[in-house]
Amino acid sequence: MPADSKVPAGIGNFTDPDSGPLPESFFTSDFVNAGNRGCNACHADVWDAICDLSPIPHLATSKPGYGKVANITDCYPCHAGGAALGGPILSDLIHSAHYSKAQFVEEESGNCWSCHAIDNAGNLVQWDVYKHTDQLGGFTQSGSTAVQFWLQMRKWEPSSTAGVSIAPDMQVDVSFDQEPTTEEDFFVASNYAVPEVDAATWALQVTGLTEEKSFTLEDLKALPQTKKTIAFPCAANAIGSYQIGNVPVTGVLLSDLVEACGGAKEGVVAVGPNAADGWRFPSPEMNYNLDYLISQGAMVALQYWDHDLTVDQGSPATLVVPGTGAGWWSKWLTGLDFNDSQMQVSIAIMQAPVEQQTHEMGLMTPGLVSLNTGWLAPSKDGETLSGSTVELEGYAYAWTDGTTNKLERIAFSADYGETWTMVDVPDELDPFGLVHWKAAWTPPAPGTYNLRTCAIDTVGNWQYYPSNVILTVSE
Ligand code: HEC
Ligand code: HEC
Ligand code: HEC
Repeated sequence: MPADSKVPAGIGNFTDPDSGPLPESFFTSDFVNAGNRGCNACHADVWDAICDLSPIPHLATSKPGYGKVANITDCYPCHAGGAALGGPILSDLIHSAHYSKAQFVEEESGNCWSCHAIDNAGNLVQWDVYKHTDQLGGFTQSGSTAVQFWLQMRKWEPSSTAGVSIAPDMQVDVSFDQEPTTEEDFFVASNYAVPEVDAATWALQVTGLTEEKSFTLEDLKALPQTKKTIAFPCAANAIGSYQIGNVPVTGVLLSDLVEACGGAKEGVVAVGPNAADGWRFPSPEMNYNLDYLISQGAMVALQYWDHDLTVDQGSPATLVVPGTGAGWWSKWLTGLDFNDSQMQVSIAIMQAPVEQQTHEMGLMTPGLVSLNTGWLAPSKDGETLSGSTVELEGYAYAWTDGTTNKLERIAFSADYGETWTMVDVPDELDPFGLVHWKAAWTPPAPGTYNLRTCAIDTVGNWQYYPSNVILTVSE
């Protein structure tokens, strides 16, 4: 192994069978070798391998927060090939990068099954996806009454060949809040190189309103300030991933800024944000519909968590548009150009309605995810919680205009989606804030479970596929 290897020694060796997060048994170690498969069998956190891949900072900029680790599913929104401006298709790169490393080939005996599995339909899939399906252990519909009866009569203990326990009608007592995320858990991302902006000489140029004005940071702070806690979903936050946070934002509402400039001129229907790094998505001609921005409560943000923005956060000012993926926003804002352009980002794109509604674990690779839940406790596979009732935690959000495509319910399952327990999200919660849920769960018995959650919106869409976590409950 090279002295500077990013992968710790002595783990992930395929010739040393191991049960990993699954209950120890002949089946899970000798047959499945669950402990030596998936990106983090070797990497501990595959993010460490991508943060300094090339001289250009990788787009997935910050280390996972919330105690989470990255795996291949976190790469899909950018790398699955669906996003035109995303990263390259990973297949070829990941293969050649590994098979050219002596550590992978010789010391870890790495092979196709280190990363892949073959599902029951004969498709080559990722182990990190497959391990959360009921196909693990060879049976389909492991949660169904017929399969359960069969396994019990065959004396498999507990309820699957892989030793995963199954609990129909998950018994959860769920509470909700919209507390801010801690700043340490919050992600950082920028599409282009981080620009150098001097806050002392900086000014925001506002054109196209009755009065054209230039605002220094002090001028903006002298305007009416609004404080709101807003969900910041990276447009490329994957199913259950960590590029999301609930941020307390202080700044100037766009409506207040328009008023401070004497209102919009006749015929002005759009706004084009200018940023010091040159970012505007999806194209440099892109404009927002002005009425839409105002109804979303768009803000020129000056502070997060009660302090001025840091350079990474887009200092001195960032245009924040609640309810949309943050990739449409502008950090390092230098100007707002109010105009009559019809080249407007349509609301439909920003809501990205989920078309593939499946209650089953999808083996497909989604692009952008506009409806999502994620696990925060446990935050990753393989943790153990003790007690007859255990406290689970997670987040949920939907891209929304506040009235349609709102987050409506969260579904929970402990039997691979055979049965779902539906919990209504309280109406009084702010649709533009991140929903944080706590679920007190009383499993029928101690054991290792695969838990799923799914967000469902007011239109009836389910998120593309559920967010999964494997955990052990001990007495
Ligand atoms: C069997 C062990 C093993 C598994 C499983 C594994 N890797 Fe690696 N990976 C390695 C080793 C060893 C290296 C080389 C580390 C070094 O030289 O610093 C590496 C390097 C990498 C690199 C950097 C490549 C480079 O040339 O710098 C990336 C990116 C990466 N792995 C991603 C992944 C992803 C994604 C997965 C899951 C789909 C995965 N790995 C699964 C062992 C593994
Ligand atoms: C937010 C989008 C995004 C996410 C998430 C993301 N990538 Fe990338 N990645 C890119 C882009 C864009 C490039 C193209 C190179 C560039 O522009 O810097 C890239 C390049 C790469 C490359 C080629 C080497 C290089 O630096 O050009 C590898 C390998 C890679 N990514 C692996 C991964 C892995 C593994 C994950 C998941 C753990 C991941 N990426 C997550 C956007 C992303
Ligand atoms: C280090 C991890 C790793 C290893 C080892 C590995 N693969 Fe892959 N493989 C990947 C990743 C990552 C992708 C691309 C992501 C995706 O499509 O899910 C991929 C994609 C593929 C695809 C395309 C699948 C598709 O649906 O598009 C094939 C085929 C494939 N691998 C075959 C193999 C074979 C054969 C081997 C053994 C010789 C192998 N892989 C070893 C990580 C790995």
